[in-house]
Amino acid sequence: MVHTQKMGLIWFIPILYLLFSPSSAEIAAKPGVNYGQLGNNLPHPKKSVELIKSLKAGRVKIYDANPKILKALANTNIQVSIMVPNEIITAMAPNQSLADEWVRSNVVPFYPKTMIRYLLVGNEILSQPDNVTWFNLVPAMRRIRKSLVFYKLKKIKVGTPLAMDCLEASFPPSSGKFRSSVSESVIKPLLQFIHRTKSFFFIDVYTYFAWVPDPVNIKLDYALLQPNVSTYTDPVTGLMYTNLLEQMLDALYFAMKDAGYPDIRLFIAETGWPNGGDIDQIGANIYNAAIYNRNVIKRFTEKPPRGTPLKPFVVLPSFIFALYNENQKTGAGTERHFGLLYPNGTNIYEIDLSGKTALSEFKKPLPVPTNNEPFKGKIWCVAARGANTTALAGALSFACGQGNSTCDPIQRGGKCFKPDSLTWHASYAFSSYWAQFKKSGGSCYFNGLATQTAKNPSFGSCKFPSVTL
Ligand SMILES: *[C@@H]1O[C@H](CO)[C@@H](O)[C@H](O)[C@H]1NC(C)=O
Ligand SMILES: *[C@@H]1O[C@H](CO)[C@@H](O)[C@H](O)[C@H]1NC(C)=O
Ligand SMILES: *[C@@H]1O[C@H](CO)[C@@H](O)[C@H](O)[C@H]1NC(C)=O
Ligand SMILES: *[C@@H]1O[C@H](CO)[C@@H](O)[C@H](O)[C@H]1NC(C)=O
Ligand SMILES: *[C@@H]1O[C@H](CO)[C@@H](O)[C@H](O)[C@H]1NC(C)=O
Ligand SMILES: *[C@@H]1O[C@H](CO)[C@@H](O)[C@H](O)[C@H]1NC(C)=O
Repeated sequence: MVHTQKMGLIWFIPILYLLFSPSSAEIAAKPGVNYGQLGNNLPHPKKSVELIKSLKAGRVKIYDANPKILKALANTNIQVSIMVPNEIITAMAPNQSLADEWVRSNVVPFYPKTMIRYLLVGNEILSQPDNVTWFNLVPAMRRIRKSLVFYKLKKIKVGTPLAMDCLEASFPPSSGKFRSSVSESVIKPLLQFIHRTKSFFFIDVYTYFAWVPDPVNIKLDYALLQPNVSTYTDPVTGLMYTNLLEQMLDALYFAMKDAGYPDIRLFIAETGWPNGGDIDQIGANIYNAAIYNRNVIKRFTEKPPRGTPLKPFVVLPSFIFALYNENQKTGAGTERHFGLLYPNGTNIYEIDLSGKTALSEFKKPLPVPTNNEPFKGKIWCVAARGANTTALAGALSFACGQGNSTCDPIQRGGKCFKPDSLTWHASYAFSSYWAQFKKSGGSCYFNGLATQTAKNPSFGSCKFPSVTL
């Protein structure tokens, strides 16, 4: 009797401690923010750190080891994640002195005043076309870890954030499986490293990108983590899912289990929802972004931790993407609209990363979404307002050099020659280019010089080609 009571106590204390001790679980659960710097109009690091504090972020992740940022983060209680750039991984894999030098100049001078806690090697390496780096990833991580041990910085965990494309199967979640082309050569050594060093599997996970290709079968509210909207039950395990995020996370847990590592912890290196995008992009708006991020923060800060159906009560540490809208990110419009803040530092919507603000306490009304259904109609691609004229002339001549008769109507005497201005001609050329090449992956971007419009720019007998959705 006495004996079993004792057993019970010993069994209980550590679990209670893990679940409720504010010194571990609560701090670990407090979401952080990704501080991307791909904008030419962003506040300087000192101001940015003030803004990060005002968002009540528990931690911040940067995509390099910018010394100004690391200095600005000194003597704050914000945990910091820094990153080894993709470009030096292959050189670092065989070269211990290169790793030592990197740690000596990018970590040592700032530690411990700046609470560097995570050192991520590369960003989404397995999503890059350069497959040489894939195979150098884990060797480079081992080098970095060795350097950290040498400098007595073992408290800093080494990891590498991957994207969901590291999986070749994720639905139903119980079928979760890593890409067979890398599972033996990269993933297993990676999992072994993470296991041995008690680090995390860092993952960039966006329900937005999973929902976009299939908005009919996947309910938007299920992707936004809205409560009590719909459920999905995995036919193999019987586990019931109430949102898309937990479904995606469990697919990863199942993949790790399949690879022989069922107990590795996940760390959400990026998640978020775009607050804006191009006309042909569905669901990217302030309303959805606010709802998603607020719901995610609420989930991640629940006490006791909620975990996922497969791993209930497990803390899910996280970083929301991103601090700012970043105007120099390339690709679709959504890429430049993931911020919690505008570049001038004002909130795009109310948000509290500590999770202490109840959803009902966000008072400012959110703009009603107008693009939650696919856009139907015609779209044109025109020169963006204020575009640099030298660059615009270059883009015009590039566009005219593609496809068939792309720019005939803007030649002298053509129906669209007048008004004879660079902006007008570039707008025609962009529309004509995009109408021919959208199907094969061409975009209306031209390094930020072009933008989509649903307003027909055609004038008189000049008809602009369009894309029809
Ligand atoms: C290894 O890195 C060090 C430090 O950057 C460099 O001086 C050296 O040339 C590198 N060795 C090789 C074999 O590339
Ligand atoms: C790496 O890429 C090259 C060129 O694209 C390809 O020929 C090779 O099969 C790839 N290797 C692996 C292991 O995927
Ligand atoms: C969702 O369901 C739970 C339990 O079924 C209930 O406690 C909760 O109030 C519901 N939430 C909403 C927003 O309807
Ligand atoms: C900040 O930028 C946003 C978006 O451009 C704008 O709506 C807002 O008025 C600006 N706020 C301030 C204080 O300048
Ligand atoms: C405009 O673009 C050209 C060519 O891309 C570049 O050299 C120049 O610096 C740009 N000017 C401004 C003001 O950004
Ligand atoms: C250009 O014309 C050729 C021959 O008619 C055709 O095969 C090709 O697909 C056209 N290219 C575009 C971009 O429309």
